[in-house]
Amino acid sequence: MESMVRHLHEAIKEVRITPAEWMEAITFLTRTGQISDNKRQEFILLSDVLGVSMLVDTLAHDTTSGATANTVLGPFHVSDAPHYANGADIRLKQTGEAMWVAGGVRDTEGRPVAGANLDVWQADDSGFYDVQRPNDLPEWNLRGQFTTDGNGHYDFITSKPLHYPIPSDGPVGDLLNALDRPFIRPAHLHFIVTADGYAPVITHYFDDRCPYLQYDPVLGVKSSLLTRFEPNVEHSGSAKSDSVKWTARCDFVLARGGDDPSA
Ligand code: BEZ
Ligand code: FE
Repeated sequence: MESMVRHLHEAIKEVRITPAEWMEAITFLTRTGQISDNKRQEFILLSDVLGVSMLVDTLAHDTTSGATANTVLGPFHVSDAPHYANGADIRLKQTGEAMWVAGGVRDTEGRPVAGANLDVWQADDSGFYDVQRPNDLPEWNLRGQFTTDGNGHYDFITSKPLHYPIPSDGPVGDLLNALDRPFIRPAHLHFIVTADGYAPVITHYFDDRCPYLQYDPVLGVKSSLLTRFEPNVEHSGSAKSDSVKWTARCDFVLARGGDDPSA
């Protein structure tokens, strides 16, 4: 607290905050609290756009372990998504272009991790999560949990995700507008990868050709988390190749240890 108060006082002196500006800040924080409830957490969104969430996460993780990098959890994760067998299609509404996502989970020595759990969620081809459009999109659309096989592999069919704006109808949106900052997150797939005896990884894979990569409003992009959404040739000749236009490889490395990165 001493450090926080010292830096706060320094900032107020440096900028010479006026009583009117102080009142504006109080109103902003009050609105941030008032718009938050058990479904919407505007304070976390504020932390996200200020780069605080990524900074705290970076400080909490040993970036030299060789494990896949973490990034922001975001507000759209829902616990207890359905479990599916590998190869399942998580599109509960058939929109957009189908994409085959496949990869492996390995330890830092390169050995396959069998029985790892991948909890996946993403926006659809219009940039919406199921929870944002409960009247149009089926519950659990583009969400699911998968388990790696004996070779550490998993795969599933989904819809190629689109970039989308972060929630902008509250005080955080007003702040970004006032600062002339962008709202659009680059297209990505979310993953939480867990396995007994390993530190969990909360991360995304981003479309490496998305034009919004450089402007992520929550500063969550890392170069190691880019993947290419390629035309699907791996399935060529199979029934899947005609209907599944895209493919993306998303591999993960887990480091030993059981600590929860959110703790
Ligand atoms: C998301 O990717 O779901 C997200 C992350 C941080 C803020 C808003 C959305
Ligand atoms: Fe997201």
